Amino acid sequence: MNPLLKTQKIGFIGAGNMAQAMIKGLIEGGIPAKNIFATNRSEGKLLKLAESFKINPVKSNGELIDQCEIIILAVKPQDLLVALEPVTRAFDEHKIVISVAAGIRMEMLERYIHEARLARVMPNTPSLIGRGVIGYLLNDDDDDALDSTVADLFAPLGRVIQVNDEDQFETLMISCSSGTGFVFEMMMYWQDWIEEHGFSAEEAQVMTIETFVGASLLAAQAREGVEELQARVTSKKGVTAAGLQSMRELEIERALRISFEKAAMRNKEMAREIK
Ligand SMILES: NC(=O)c1ccc[n+]([C@@H]2O[C@H](COP(=O)([O-])OP(=O)(O)OC[C@H]3O[C@@H](n4cnc5c(N)ncnc54)[C@H](OP(=O)(O)O)[C@@H]3O)[C@@H](O)[C@H]2O)c1
Repeated sequence: MNPLLKTQKIGFIGAGNMAQAMIKGLIEGGIPAKNIFATNRSEGKLLKLAESFKINPVKSNGELIDQCEIIILAVKPQDLLVALEPVTRAFDEHKIVISVAAGIRMEMLERYIHEARLARVMPNTPSLIGRGVIGYLLNDDDDDALDSTVADLFAPLGRVIQVNDEDQFETLMISCSSGTGFVFEMMMYWQDWIEEHGFSAEEAQVMTIETFVGASLLAAQAREGVEELQARVTSKKGVTAAGLQSMRELEIERALRISFEKAAMRNKEMAREIK
């Protein structure tokens, strides 16, 4: 972590799940709690968070922007523009502003925040347990300091990946954020089938989760790619081969690709609706 980050004031607009996961990661990563500030719409949640992490609660978003060098926009997408409208003038070219709001594109952020250095970040839900994939897009690719600040801030939440444009941002969002939901969908089918064959719900859950975790960890640790690992568990004309042949005949790949494309279409449609 860049030592300068430990001296800068970092403010969160919105103190919900994502802000809490980030604050925990930042403090564990060595950012002093006294340098972290937050606002929230409902006061109770803010005071509880401030008490448990010893961070500074701030009364208004305008005050927080004035006090902090780095501002993280951590409200729901539908609340973001309402939150920004009254404070657009508080930003200047020295501030770094990072939005984690899904669906609010860079061009929209630039309309509300004229001067600041901007990043759009997409953490997926496993970020809440430090196992996320976090994509980020900058409004100035040559701003190395902005680049390293974003990478350092999100490193405690998982693997941080810079993307080049909104198209790549969408690809990362669909494969990793929506992708988490798609993986859960498959896990449900796994679990149902096991239960139908006489196992309890708890046993089916353990068997499913451990199969997904085990396969993922093996893939993460092995030198070979997924294709070679699959070949290793598949003997010719064996049990796994029969199942795989059926998966291919049923065109699971095609079904998945269509689902990814449908998600991408919906993402574009939602961006148009926000305009
Ligand atoms: N959670 C995830 O896994 C995840 C993953 C990827 C991206 N994100 C993004 O992260 C952002 C936050 O999500 P979240 O899950 O943390 O939501 P959340 O738990 O609902 O937190 C949002 C917080 O923002 C507060 N808020 C709303 N309007 C405000 C305003 N004008 N000023 C100050 N605070 C305000 C809300 O206050 P109240 O107490 O009144 O509700 C709430 O505590 C979203 O944009 C989402 O797209 C989340």
